[in-house]
Amino acid sequence: MRILITGSNGMLGYDLIKVLQNGNVLINTTSKTLDITKKDDVLDFIKKEKPDIVINSAAYTNVDGCEENQDLAYAVNGEGVENLALACREVDCTLVHISTDYVFKGDSNTPRLEDDELGPMNVYGKSKLKGENAITDILDKYFIVRTAWLYGYNGGNFPKTMLELAKHHDTLTVVYDEVGSPTYTLDLAKAISELIKTDNYGIYHITNSGSCSWFEFAKLIFELAEVDVDVKPVTANEFASPAPRPSYSVLDNEKWVKNGFLPLRSYKEAIGDYIEILKGED
Ligand SMILES: NC(=O)c1ccc[n+]([C@@H]2O[C@H](COP(=O)([O-])OP(=O)(O)OC[C@H]3O[C@@H](n4cnc5c(N)ncnc54)[C@H](OP(=O)(O)O)[C@@H]3O)[C@@H](O)[C@H]2O)c1
Repeated sequence: MRILITGSNGMLGYDLIKVLQNGNVLINTTSKTLDITKKDDVLDFIKKEKPDIVINSAAYTNVDGCEENQDLAYAVNGEGVENLALACREVDCTLVHISTDYVFKGDSNTPRLEDDELGPMNVYGKSKLKGENAITDILDKYFIVRTAWLYGYNGGNFPKTMLELAKHHDTLTVVYDEVGSPTYTLDLAKAISELIKTDNYGIYHITNSGSCSWFEFAKLIFELAEVDVDVKPVTANEFASPAPRPSYSVLDNEKWVKNGFLPLRSYKEAIGDYIEILKGED
C-alpha cells in the first residue's frame, strides 16, 4: 500500500514508520514538507502522490500551549484535519486520524465508549473534536483512533520527564486525581497497522489495557527504572496547569475487541519494555 504519514517525525509518527516500512511504500511528511494547515498544498500533494491511505499523526499536541495559542490549535487540529479529509475525498483514499481521550468531559468514573457523550474541557480537546467532526462530515472511509497518555521512543513524554527530574530532585510531587491509560506508541502503531488491513471504518478507542493515576504511573516508572526518589501525591488543583484536564479519561476498547482484535497488552508490561530500552541507552 502507498501510505502517506503526516507528522512523521513526531512520537507516534516515528513508530508508525518503524512498523509500516516493510511491505508498504511510505510517503513521510513533516510540517516543513507538508503543512496541513495549507489547504491548496494539501490538495496538490495528495493528488500528486495518490496514496491508498493517509495517516494523520500531525497535531498541535501541547495541551497547555493550546490554551494560549488557540488559533494555532484550531488551525492544526481542526482546519488541518478538514484539509486532509477534503483531499482524501478528492482522491478516494482512506484517512486514519489520531484523536484523544480529551474529547470527553472525563467526569464519570467508568471507561468511555466511542458513542458516549462528548464534552471537551480544554482548547486542545475542543480543537481535536473539531477535527473529528470534519472527518465524519466529509468522509465515509475513515478510521478515527482515540488514544491517551502517549509515550514513545522519539519525543518528550511523561516517563522521560519523570526520570529527568529525578536526576536533580530527591522528592517529586505528582498528580493523583487524574486517571487514564498510559499507551506506548509502538503498541499503538502496531494496532493501527492491523486496523488499516480492514474496511471496518469508524471511530475506535485504542490504548494499552488497564489504568492508573499519574502518581501511580510515576511510582511504577521509578520502580522499573530502579530509581530511588520520594513521590508525593498532589491534586491537579494544587499542581495548577493552565489547561483543565479530565479527572477520569479511561477509554473502553470494546469496539476494537468486537472487531476481532486482541486487547493491547497491559500498560504495566508496555512501560516495562520501554524502560528497558531507556536503560540500554544509559
Ligand atoms: N501525546 C499524547 O499523550 C497524546 C494523547 C492522545 C492523543 N494524541 C494524538 O496522537 C497524535 C500523535 O501525537 P504525538 O504525541 O506523536 O505528537 P507529536 O510528537 O507532538 O508530533 C506531532 C507532529 O505534528 C507535526 N505538526 C505540527 N503542526 C503541523 C502542521 N501544521 N503540519 C504538519 N505537521 C505538523 C509536528 O511536526 P514537525 O516536527 O515537523 O513540526 C510533530 O512532529 C496526535 O494527533 C495527538 O493529538 C497524543
